[in-house]
Amino acid sequence: MKRYGWLGLLLLAALQAGAQDARMNAFVSSLMNKMTVDEKIGQLNLVTPGGPAVTGAVVSTNVEEKIRKGEAGGIFGLWGEDKVRKVQEIAVNESRLKIPLIFGLDVIHGHRTIFPIPLAVSCTWDMAMIERSARMAALEATADGLNWTFSPMVDIARDPRWGRIAEGGGEDPYLGAQIARAMVRGYQGDNLADPTTLMACVKHFALYGAGEAGRDYNTVDMSRLQMYQDYLPPYKAAVEAGAGSVMTSFNIVDGLPATGNRWLMTDLLRTQWGFRGMVVTDYTAVKEMTMHGLGDLQAVSALALKAGVDMDMVSEGFLATLKQSLAQGKVTQKEIDLACRRILEAKYKLGLFDDPYRYCNAERARRELLSADKRQFARELAARSAVLLKNDNQTLPLKPGGTVALIGPMADNRAEMFGTWTIGGDPNHPVTVREGIAKAIGDQGKILYAKGANFTDDPEFLRRAFPWGGAPEESRSPGELLEEALTAARRSDVVVAVLGESSNMSGEAASRTRIGLPENQLKLLQALHATGKPVVLVIFSGRPLTLTWEQEHLPAILMGWFGGIEAGNAIADVLYGAYNPAGKLSTTFPRSVGQIPLYYNHKPTGRPLNPNDKFTTKYLDESNEPLYPFGYGLSYTSFAYSDIRLSSTQLKGAGPLTASVTVTNTGKLAGEEVVQLYLSDPAASVSRAVKELKGFQKIMLAPGESREVQFSITPEQLKFYNSALQYDWESGEFGIQIGGNSRDVKQAKVVWTK
Ligand code: NOJ
Repeated sequence: MKRYGWLGLLLLAALQAGAQDARMNAFVSSLMNKMTVDEKIGQLNLVTPGGPAVTGAVVSTNVEEKIRKGEAGGIFGLWGEDKVRKVQEIAVNESRLKIPLIFGLDVIHGHRTIFPIPLAVSCTWDMAMIERSARMAALEATADGLNWTFSPMVDIARDPRWGRIAEGGGEDPYLGAQIARAMVRGYQGDNLADPTTLMACVKHFALYGAGEAGRDYNTVDMSRLQMYQDYLPPYKAAVEAGAGSVMTSFNIVDGLPATGNRWLMTDLLRTQWGFRGMVVTDYTAVKEMTMHGLGDLQAVSALALKAGVDMDMVSEGFLATLKQSLAQGKVTQKEIDLACRRILEAKYKLGLFDDPYRYCNAERARRELLSADKRQFARELAARSAVLLKNDNQTLPLKPGGTVALIGPMADNRAEMFGTWTIGGDPNHPVTVREGIAKAIGDQGKILYAKGANFTDDPEFLRRAFPWGGAPEESRSPGELLEEALTAARRSDVVVAVLGESSNMSGEAASRTRIGLPENQLKLLQALHATGKPVVLVIFSGRPLTLTWEQEHLPAILMGWFGGIEAGNAIADVLYGAYNPAGKLSTTFPRSVGQIPLYYNHKPTGRPLNPNDKFTTKYLDESNEPLYPFGYGLSYTSFAYSDIRLSSTQLKGAGPLTASVTVTNTGKLAGEEVVQLYLSDPAASVSRAVKELKGFQKIMLAPGESREVQFSITPEQLKFYNSALQYDWESGEFGIQIGGNSRDVKQAKVVWTK
C-alpha cells in the first residue's frame, strides 16, 4: 500500500475491473458470434415449470423441450441442488451451444429457514441484522441450486390496504434505501461468482407500492417530483449497491406500463443511474400490456425490448414475436443483441460458464439447509422485529407462574407462522406460539389452549382468499369455539390472545378494504376482555391493522407480524422478557381506513388543523392523527431525551453540523432504543414534507445509563428535488428533531447558508 498510495491502488483496481470487463466482453462476443437469431431470442425467455411459483393465469409449457432447443435463458420456481442439476444438464448437454441456464426463485425472507416477513424485519432498524438475513438466505439458496433471487422488494408503500406492503420496508425512502443497500450487500457480497452469493433483483421498478386505492396491479399516477423525492430512492440505492438485476412493475408510470416505458428502463435506470445489469419483467407483464391497451402481443413485445427490457418472464412474447418484428423492421438486431448480451453477462458474472453446476453442491446443501445457526438467527431476528404497541401497568413481561389462557387461531398454528412468500419453506417446521410459551414457562405454569375462532367466518372472503380450496378453517361452530375459549379464560390468571391475519391475507393479490381484525376475531377478543381477565393481544399480520378498540381497551399489545420458522420461540422470548422489545414501526398505523394514505412525511397544507375553525384540514368523524406513528415502538424500560445541543445555530458552507442529545434509560431493565433524526425545511422553492427521516442510531443502555448520541449533518442531508428535478439544497432555516419516534421529538433550529 505504501509503495503505491491510495490513488495507485484505486487505479489498479479500476484497471483490473477494466481487464475483467474486457475478458467478459470478449467471451460474450465470441459466443454471440456463434448464435443464431433464434438462439439469441431464446436467451431472453424466462420460464417456470409451475408449482408454487405460479403467480398468474398463464404457465410455461414444454419447458424441457424449450431448454433443449435453446428457447429458454433461465428458469424460475425450481430448487433443490439435484433437481437443478438435472435441468442444467439438459441445457449443457443437449442444447446446441450448451449455454447454462440461470436459476431464479422468490427467496424473499429466507429460503428454507424462513425469517420474519420483510415488513417485520424493517422494524428492527438494524442494517447489520438485515444484511445478515440476506447473507443467510444466499448461503442456503445457493446451496440449493439457485443463483438469482427476486428480492429485495423495495417499493415504498403508504397504503396498508395493499397486501404487498408485507414484502417491503415500509413507507420511508431513507429507511427504505438503507434496507435496499443492506439486502443487496447481503445477497451479492462483493463477488457474484462466489458460489455462496446470489444475484439480487430489485423490484418492482417502479412505484408498484403506489397503486390507487391499495388494490394490487392497479394504476399509479404521480408527479415526477414525488417519484424522485419519495418513491425512487430505494431502487436507486439498490442499483448503486450493485444489484445485478431489476424487475419491472405491473403498473403504469407516467401513463405507460413500466415494462414498456423507455424513459424508466433506459433513460432513468441506465443513463441517469448507470445501471449495468439485466432487466427482467414481472410475471407475464409483457403480455399484460395488451390489456393496458398498448397493442397486440407483437407490438407490446417490441415496445418492451425497445424500452430496455432484457428478459420476458412467462409471457413468451419475445419468443413468439421478436423474429417477425426483426424481419418487419419493428425492432433491430442491435436491440436483440443488447438484451442477449446483458443476460449472458449475468451468467458470466455468476461464473456459470466456468462451472454450470457451481450452485449444485450436495455437500454444501447438507451443511447449509436449515442449519442450527440459521434457526438461532431466525429466532433473534423475529424477536427484534416485534413491536410493542402498548404496555400499561407493566402487564408485560409476563411471569412464568400461574395459568395462561392461550387463545386464538394463530396460537397453535404451525403452518401459518411464515406469512407470504415462502416457497422453499416447509410448513411443518415452524415453532408455534403454544410450543414457545410452553418451553418458556416450563413446569412453573399452566397453559389452557383454545382456538376461539377461525380466521374469518365470512365465506365470500374465504372463497376469494382460497380460490383453489384449502382454507385453514375448521368445522366446529363459532359458538362452540367461543365457549371453549371463554371457559379457558375464566380459569386463567391472564389471557394471551394470538389473533390476526392468516398468511394469505397479505402478500400478492391480497388487498383488503377493512384492515382491522376480522369481525369474528374482534368479537372473540371483546368477549375475552369482558371476562375481566387481563388480555394481552399478540398480533400476526402482514400489514398495519386498525386497532382502535384494542388500543382503548386492552392493557398490552404486541405486533409479532409473521415471525417465520422460529416465530413461536421469539414471541415467547418477548412475552416472558428473555428479550426486551425494541422494534420501531416502519409504517404508520392509521386509526381507520378512511385516513389512508396516512404517512408521517406528508406535505403541510395551507390550512393546518384547528378543531375550532371549520375551514381547516380535518375529518368530521375522525382525528387526523395516526393510532401509532412511524418510528413508534415501546420497550419494557423507558427512555428520556435531553434537549438537542447544536454545534452551531448559524452555519455557512459544508458544515458539518453536530446535533446531539443525551438519552437516558430511566427504567429498571436494559434495553435498546432507536434514536431518530428528522429534518425539515420550512421555506424552500417547492413545498417540503413536514419532516423527513435523515438518520438513526440503535443504542443499548443499561438501567440508569445515559449516552450522548451525536448526528453529524451535512448539506447532503438537506438536499431535495426542486421543480426542475435537480437535487440540491437551498439556504435558509432548517428544523432538527430527534426522538424515539416521528411524533415525540425534541426540536431545534439552524440557519444554514451556502
Ligand atoms: C409476481 C410478483 O409480482 C413478483 O414479485 C415475483 O417475483 C414474480 N411473480 C415471480 O414469482
